[in-house]
Amino acid sequence: MAIDLTIKVAGEGGEGVISSGDFIMQAATRAGMEVMTFKSFPAEIKGGYALSQVRISDRKILSQGDGFNILVAFNGEAYEVNKGLLKPGTIMVWDGPHGGDFEPEEHEGVQMFAVPMSDIAKNTLRNYLFKNMVAMGAVIELFGLPEDSLKSSIHDKFIKKGQDIVDSNYQAIELGRQWIRDNYPGRKVAHTFPASAKQKDVIILEGNEAIALGAAMAGARFYGAYPITPATSVGNHLVKLLHHTGGVVYQTEDEISALATVIGASFTGVKALTATSGPGISLMQELIGLAIMSEVPIVIADIQRGGPSTGMPTKHDQSDLFACTLGSHGDAPRIVMAVADVHDCVYLTIDAFNLAETYQSPVMLLSDASLSIQTECIPRPDMSKVTLVERLFATPPAEGEKFNRYQITATGVSPMGAPGIPGTNYAATGLEHSEDSGPRTNTETRNAMTEKRWRKFDNIEDAYTPIEREGEAGDDLGIIAWGMTQAVTREAVARLRAQGHKVSALYPKMLWPLPKKQIEAFAASVRRVVVPEANFQGQFADLIKMRSNVTPIKFNAYRGEPLIPREIENMALELLKTDKAPARVAIR
Ligand code: COA
Repeated sequence: MAIDLTIKVAGEGGEGVISSGDFIMQAATRAGMEVMTFKSFPAEIKGGYALSQVRISDRKILSQGDGFNILVAFNGEAYEVNKGLLKPGTIMVWDGPHGGDFEPEEHEGVQMFAVPMSDIAKNTLRNYLFKNMVAMGAVIELFGLPEDSLKSSIHDKFIKKGQDIVDSNYQAIELGRQWIRDNYPGRKVAHTFPASAKQKDVIILEGNEAIALGAAMAGARFYGAYPITPATSVGNHLVKLLHHTGGVVYQTEDEISALATVIGASFTGVKALTATSGPGISLMQELIGLAIMSEVPIVIADIQRGGPSTGMPTKHDQSDLFACTLGSHGDAPRIVMAVADVHDCVYLTIDAFNLAETYQSPVMLLSDASLSIQTECIPRPDMSKVTLVERLFATPPAEGEKFNRYQITATGVSPMGAPGIPGTNYAATGLEHSEDSGPRTNTETRNAMTEKRWRKFDNIEDAYTPIEREGEAGDDLGIIAWGMTQAVTREAVARLRAQGHKVSALYPKMLWPLPKKQIEAFAASVRRVVVPEANFQGQFADLIKMRSNVTPIKFNAYRGEPLIPREIENMALELLKTDKAPARVAIR
């Protein structure tokens, strides 16, 4: 039988919840398993509810799943938040029977193990920090988490804090193990850690790390950014990568100057990007317009978080789509893409650079707070299988010939000048301009240049087709999903189809320009179309309605957490029951 085990550690920020989840994840990957993590924590450094969930399987994992098999509850809040998910067959390890701050109720069919983590850490080890490792000791003893693997991860992570910290952690583990041996001797558990399988040739990456890797693989040489949660770590990872390729990572005083440096770098001929989140996107809108008007290729990764304004900096949302698609004033064409998983974070980032160079345009790459810290195994990237698009640079004009940077062409794309290519100097400004880049406001030029900027994208849907369909023509329901909701939808659709329901799904990676033909063809082939997304308005559903003949049903969650497969499955089952579909369904 396939292995599908989810371990969730939950407690207070500052109690080492995230480290515990990371150690379990590392042990699972060392055991040759596939892993996918889901982490969530508040914006505060200490305090508030934090969770780290690790899904482990011997098969490809599509999403973070619906729940857990094993809960390690560090405090009363962790128990309260999760007690509704304690189904028969699940197991809870909790901070008790003394020293903790709660007493759980009886849950039928749930195995409960009380381990006085706080008490042992405070009173025996004299340091509350080691509470999480007492819990890990219990997990080793109960479920067979490999101790060697855990110890080696602890050593690697904490040795910089001193050998005494490493030794105290080892001691905490032993105390946790001992507690289980003394208090639950010979107790059989419903779930165990999988036995080691053959190691796969995979690498383990977080979403933001994967975007950094994709950018480096695409040949990016400049990253300019202002730190903002949850985007900052893209730059932290790029520092390590661009150092080897002669690139530059530059921290600016705000997001406006960040994008200005990126446009400037690209103007000189190098591939350049920034990463930010909602508030940064708001500040960048004017400069996005500058890049469009001056036709400078750039990539902007928007790691979405709950907005508007400061909103919820560490929480999931898919609500920047309108800002990325329609933001900036004037008639402002650009490309918008969205990643669904860590694999996409690598390869769609490469595509984003290729599209930016091909169309000499800004490309907005949407990720989100959950995916930014989601860890997954992906096959080791192979550069020989990657195609890179390089910029169409101008050649030095012949003696007496004029260089026209914005030459009117059939494709709308014109050879670009750059410092170092003799005779190709031009003014890249935000002003409307003639072919030679001089400012112009006459009707003829304005019409020609506006049409040139839009003409670039006339055939993009045929030229770039990263869109996948599941299911058959004639199905009763079609789901169109974008971003991280795609991964969740894949799991829901697999379950629905396994139950015999006629459900199709469409997974576009490029959202704008809208892949109109494919969306209309998909909609025509199914009875009804629904778009699940993590925002209030149903932003992608609205864009589809605006630019195609399709009016999808909206299915929205805006609570700061991703949708889970069961919610999409239940929504689909409801819609399959009735022909009187509501225009919008929201879940809370
Ligand atoms: N022994 C020694 N050190 C330990 C330990 C142990 N057994 N267990 C944990 N620690 C350390 C960790 O190394 C970490 O220290 P570091 O920051 O020096 O690396 C620290 O204790 C916190 O532990 P960790 O497991 O990483 O996180 P946590 O589960 O306790 O949660 C966060 C803390 C992640 C919620 C919090 O620190 C945070 O980052 N919040 C978000 C901040 C943010 O982005 N705000 C937005 C601003 S707009």
